Amino acid sequence: MPAPDRSNFESLYAGQAPWDIGKPQPALVAAAERITGSVLDAGCGTGENALYFAGLGRKVTGFDYVEEAIRRARQKAAERGLLASFLVLDALALGEVPEVFDSAIDCGLFHVFDDDARRKYVAGLASVLRTGGRLFLLCFSDEEPGTQGPRRISRQELAEAFAVGWQVESIEPTRFEIRAEVADLEFGPGGPKAWFAVVRRTENPQAPRSNG
Ligand SMILES: C[S@@+](CC[C@H](N)C(=O)[O-])C[C@H]1O[C@@H](n2cnc3c(N)ncnc32)[C@H](O)[C@@H]1O
Repeated sequence: MPAPDRSNFESLYAGQAPWDIGKPQPALVAAAERITGSVLDAGCGTGENALYFAGLGRKVTGFDYVEEAIRRARQKAAERGLLASFLVLDALALGEVPEVFDSAIDCGLFHVFDDDARRKYVAGLASVLRTGGRLFLLCFSDEEPGTQGPRRISRQELAEAFAVGWQVESIEPTRFEIRAEVADLEFGPGGPKAWFAVVRRTENPQAPRSNG
């Protein structure tokens, strides 16, 4: 199945997207104490995760390449009196972002990409996360049966994607919470199976090494 493109996401945001549950994903809430400092939310959608961390006092920047999603995220921030930056940006252009963050979250973006785009995305993430910073990533799991929804990801693929310049600290099974009517129709009780990976940025493989 081809990877979804921007127009697929624009159509989904014209209605109510299955993942747009009006609150942060429970797996990220459970890890909140570890998601510290300045936080980048990659593929933030309408901003529920970003705004949750903004509410905890983190300095948050969320980006998405769908303008309507970012419009809604900004509107929610204003309505809730929360401070967060929301940008329209393609994740494959992350290498052009000059800022460096302490933490990054990816809730449902990594599993969107085909293999080539995935490599480019991970390289971009490496350029915007400080050495020692952590990425918290929630993606569809290969333990979820069927083909409905995004591409399934295995532990092995996660390990391979972050093999150089990163240390995979943990990969735990969890679930995505999605809108109830979609979950009942297309996935098992509890929502689709997911992996929650914590990956630490170790070094820039392109940086010159010191001999001393
Ligand atoms: C499954 S949704 C998750 C949205 C949000 N993280 C959430 O949990 O509600 C994936 C998001 O990634 C965005 N996206 C997909 N490809 C992207 C890209 N190349 N650059 C930026 N955003 C992208 C989509 O527009 C969509 O909002």
